[in-house]
Amino acid sequence: MKEKLQKIKADALAAINSDNADLEQIRIQYLGKKGELTSVLRGMGALSAEERPVVGQIANEVRAEIESALKVKAEAKKDQELQKRLISEKIDVTLPSKAATPGKLHPLVQVQRTIEDIFIGMGFSIAEGPEVEYDYYNFQALNIPENHPARDTQDTFYITDNILLRSQTSPVQVRTMEHQKPPIRVISPGRVYRSDAVDATHSPLFHQVEGLVVDKGITMGDLKGMLETFAKTLFGNDTRLRFRPHHFPFTEPSAEVDVSCFVCGGKGCRVCKNEGWIEILGSGMVHPFVLSNCGIDPEEYSGFAFGMGVERIAMKYYGIDDMRLLYENDTRFLEQF
Ligand code: DAH
Repeated sequence: MKEKLQKIKADALAAINSDNADLEQIRIQYLGKKGELTSVLRGMGALSAEERPVVGQIANEVRAEIESALKVKAEAKKDQELQKRLISEKIDVTLPSKAATPGKLHPLVQVQRTIEDIFIGMGFSIAEGPEVEYDYYNFQALNIPENHPARDTQDTFYITDNILLRSQTSPVQVRTMEHQKPPIRVISPGRVYRSDAVDATHSPLFHQVEGLVVDKGITMGDLKGMLETFAKTLFGNDTRLRFRPHHFPFTEPSAEVDVSCFVCGGKGCRVCKNEGWIEILGSGMVHPFVLSNCGIDPEEYSGFAFGMGVERIAMKYYGIDDMRLLYENDTRFLEQF
């Protein structure tokens, strides 16, 4: 029996120390209820009274040795696994980090905010109006009745016969005057729509900034002075303005306004198409009909208005020659601004 116990011990220790030993399986095989050591102990009844304690003691020692070998091996295994994980999950804190790519404002938004800032600096506040607009505000109240030829150049998308996507920000003039008595000094930036085909200078959606000033004694001189301050702040102090007579149904008189080319100073270059001037907006004195339509007495008050295209200004400002680039969301293009 003693030999048998020694053999069990030797076998068990060899198994424990073999590579890839399954320790739990070994424990069951040798020390479990049906294990080899247990079955030897069961046979102890057959031993003599002197032998029994001797064998018993050996059996206990064998059990203790196997148990402690299992424990030592289990610890070692745990340690090994930890070491493996430490190596495989190692983080090299000295590696350079991935560069963060923070977003930034779209060039159109940057230009719009610059325009807003300049006018806010001159005491203007910002008014907003709906993009889905009534025919009345977009056309009729602005002195553009049904069948007026001015509607041809501003064909837009109709929701119903009298609801449309606004083709200009000018309806905000009317909405403002309906709700606010003079003195009025507002600008209104926003999206406008026209049923134009997409090309390098047209888009069915674009942006305008409208301006409106109404008070007692407002003259064309006020319009010129304010626009000059605006243009010089945006394009540089040497900028000159040119007012060309024009026609808009909602202003009288009306003018289109050009700035001297901020690239060549007026000599003529690629940006100004050799003209020396760049058209930036339409403007004029608010038509008396428009004032009356909004309940403001044209005998008592006068005003001026202007409207500029944000894309147009942004493209000239940054030297962008194709409008489509502004809408394609290609970050290689956008990150330049
Ligand atoms: N709404 C005009 C357009 O889209 C631009 C414009 C011209 C606005 C003259 C004005 C103005 O306020 O007085 O073509």
